[in-house]
Amino acid sequence: SARKPLAGKKVLITAGGTVERLDPVRYLTNDSSGKMGFALAAAARDFGADVTVVAAKTTAKIPDGISLVRVESAEQMLEAVLSRFEQSDLVIKSAAVADYRPVVRAESKIKKSGDRIMLELVKTTDILQTLGERKTSQFLIGFAAETGDLDHYAMDKLQRKRADLLVANDVSEDGAGFNTDTNIIRIYDKDGLVEALPIMSKLDAAKRVLKLASERMTQTEAK
Ligand code: PMT
Repeated sequence: SARKPLAGKKVLITAGGTVERLDPVRYLTNDSSGKMGFALAAAARDFGADVTVVAAKTTAKIPDGISLVRVESAEQMLEAVLSRFEQSDLVIKSAAVADYRPVVRAESKIKKSGDRIMLELVKTTDILQTLGERKTSQFLIGFAAETGDLDHYAMDKLQRKRADLLVANDVSEDGAGFNTDTNIIRIYDKDGLVEALPIMSKLDAAKRVLKLASERMTQTEAK
């Protein structure tokens, strides 16, 4: 129906920033609060969907009426998402996933030693790209956190990761990106820019993303 455009749909959303441990007390992470991911979850729930959020480190309030799966690292997020991918209708990758993690995770606290020490990092698996390669009927939405040249990087990520839609935000802009209550988003599909939205609450931005996704999902079903 018009009010519940995602009724009967299973929606899987990732939120927050992954935590990549160096030793038992130290880690690499980023500024993601989970606000964008949880706003998407609340909006999808209100649209009638059955919502699961795979969340790494978050500080934002967790909405009622959703299932929450806690993970820490990019690797754990990959596992949690892959095990739920097949039964999902719509997957939204709003988490800020580490691109690199420490090669070694020390068993005990790393001791202070020389004036300079080296930290060796290795690439993590790209979760969105993995989903893009494996998708069958799932509708896939990626995000892109950029600091300029949005159109170029967004289209590159959409194509490489085979997303159906890509939501880009310039995280260097005031009122956009990490830990803000608002966002300024541009939504792309394979043909280019679909919507360039003004600043609005993350909940309103989430509703715009989900409205577009639900329309596109219905069109695909009708084919
Ligand atoms: O949580 P908030 O404080 O509300 O902040 C919201 C946000 C800025 C985190 C959000 O709006 C956002 O932009 N999320 C994506 C952050 C990100 O990792 O962007 P990216 O451009 O580095 O990655 C592109 C896409 O690939 C993303 O969908 C990301 O989830 C995915 N990715 C990246 C690396 C990796 N190893 N696996 C992935 O799946």
